[in-house]
Order: sequence, then structure tokens, then C-alpha cells
Amino acid sequence: MIPTWHKIIFGNCIDMHEIPDNSIHLMVSSPPYYNAPFDYPDLFKNYDEFLKLIRDLAKELYRVLAPGRIAAFVTDDMLVKGEKYPVVSDITKIMVESGFSYRDRIVWEKPEGYIRISRRSGVVLQHPYPMYFYPDNIQESIIIFQKGKFDYSYIKTLDPKILEASKIDLKKYSSEKWYLTIWRITNVLPFEDRLEKGIAAFPEEIPRRLIKLFTFVGETVLDPFLGSGTTTKAAKDLERNSVGYEIDLDLKDVILKKINYNQTTLTSGSANKIEIVERPDARRLRTFLQEKVKNQRSVVKKNTTKLVSATTATAGTSA
Ligand SMILES: C[S@@+](CC[C@H](N)C(=O)[O-])C[C@H]1O[C@@H](n2cnc3c(N)ncnc32)[C@H](O)[C@@H]1O
Repeated sequence: MIPTWHKIIFGNCIDMHEIPDNSIHLMVSSPPYYNAPFDYPDLFKNYDEFLKLIRDLAKELYRVLAPGRIAAFVTDDMLVKGEKYPVVSDITKIMVESGFSYRDRIVWEKPEGYIRISRRSGVVLQHPYPMYFYPDNIQESIIIFQKGKFDYSYIKTLDPKILEASKIDLKKYSSEKWYLTIWRITNVLPFEDRLEKGIAAFPEEIPRRLIKLFTFVGETVLDPFLGSGTTTKAAKDLERNSVGYEIDLDLKDVILKKINYNQTTLTSGSANKIEIVERPDARRLRTFLQEKVKNQRSVVKKNTTKLVSATTATAGTSA
């Protein structure tokens, strides 16, 4: 194992002054799902405020990402109070306007058996006529951007041991079909006692694949919306350094638990260096959000028992 370092900064990611220019080799992140009723109700004043966050972040990202490297967002269009917001295309537009090139879009397909939000498709069962169609959503997008062209001659300068350790496992690549634009990966299931409760966490398999596909051992991965710390954990396990930003100080314990941070292993000479920074612009959000989500759920429960007209079925349903 080569020693790695990990920095977790509690603060707003639109300011990443701790990171030097051109020093990040991959960004992988899932931004808050706008005002998703069951995750982030009323987190943003309006959609423009959300887009401004993405725009400000994109500028910082362009500064910190090394030339030729990749920024990948895991996200989806969002249905909030009956209106669908085109998050995927808006982030794409903002990233391109900020200087990145658009490289790919992968559809992350979740198993059909588990749909977290209400089944909108049921409307047609009640009203089997045209115009009542609202499909159930079982996908998100992984949108991939690149900062200029990658200089492949860089690979020749790497230590052969690093190159060997960074080799992609072609058996997995084929059998798990990494080579397709559709990745079938089970989402984080909503067990009551899961560590990520109340956090819209992505499965570790997503940052793992992206880290293996786009970085070499010993390089540095950034997640500006760290949540429960999934990206840091994947980077640490794969011998990459990492920097994570998270605005919500209430998530500190969850992150430390996920990355298995414990004072004794650190002081007894663990190879990995972990630094935690609490900036004055960090906030405490979870208690407030979870209270709001609880209210939201009881409203939806009441509505779904008397349902189903097309209008009530779309209102308050996230994708
Ligand atoms: C969708 S979650 C990320 C979940 C993460 N991928 C995981 O696996 O746990 C988005 C996170 O972004 C955080 N966040 C929202 N606005 C932020 C900001 N301006 N700066 C940093 N973090 C922010 C939220 O508190 C939330 O934890």
C-alpha cells in the first residue's frame, strides 16, 4: 500500500482556496438534487440560486483540475412541486460555458424493484387514456467533462510500478459491462440503520469505477459535495489521495465513520494522513432538512391514500 493523504473541509465548495491550481486529477461528485422533496426541500430559494452554485463551482473546478483531466457529476432532472427541472442539461451547458468539453453521458440504471419515490406510472392504471402517462424513474446520469486534451505521453513518465498498480481489470471491465453507456448498479438501499440515512448517497461502485478509469495510483480525487464521504472512502481504498468539501458539519461523524477514521490508528503510525478542517462558512443542515422531509412525507402519504388524479400524482414527487 502506498501512503495517501485525505483532506476533509467543512465549508462551501464555491471557495476551494485550499487546493492549488491544476492539482486535481479527477472530480467525482453528486450535487444536491436541487430542492428534491425527500432530500433537500427548500434548500435553495429558487432554481436560479441552484444554477448559480453550479456556475461558481464550475469556475473553481476549472482552476483546480489538471489539464486534460475529468470532472464527473452524478445527477438527475428533478421534479419539484409538479415542475420538472432540466438539471442534467443545465449542468452540461454551464460546464461547457466554463471551458470544459463534454465527453460522455452514462446512464446509471437502478434495479426496477426499488423505486424510492411514488410510482407515477400508476396514473395510467387508474385512467387508461392518453395524456395520463408519467413514467417511473429508475435512472440517473453520470455526465463527464474534460479540461482540454489529455497528454498521453505523461503515461510513459510514470513509475512502472504505479502503472502496473493502476491497470484496469479487464475481466471486471467485460463481465460488469463498464464499456457500455448504461451502468446497472444497485443504489444505496433505504435500510433504517444505514450510515447514510438522510443523505442522498451514491453507491461506492460509482466513484470506484470512475477513479479506476480516470486516475493513476497516488493521484488526487476531489468531491466538492462529499455527503457521507463515499468518494473519500473509495479513493483511500484505491490508494489515491483525496479532497472533499461538505457544507454540513452535522455530517462529520458519518464521514469519519465511513472512512474508518480513528484516533488510535492515526497516532499508531497509519500510513494514511487524514486532515479535517472546519471553516467558518460551514453550516448545520441535517436536523433542519430531516424535520422538513418528515413533514413532506406525511403530506404525501395523506395525498396518496386518496389519490389519484393526474395532477396530485405529479405534485410533490421527485424523480
Ligand atoms: C447528493 S449529496 C452527496 C452525497 C455523496 N455523494 C454521498 O455518497 O454521500 C450532496 C451534498 O452536498 C452538500 N452541499 C450542499 N451545498 C454545498 C456547498 N455549497 N458546498 C459543499 N457541500 C454542499 C449537502 O449537504 C449534501 O451532503
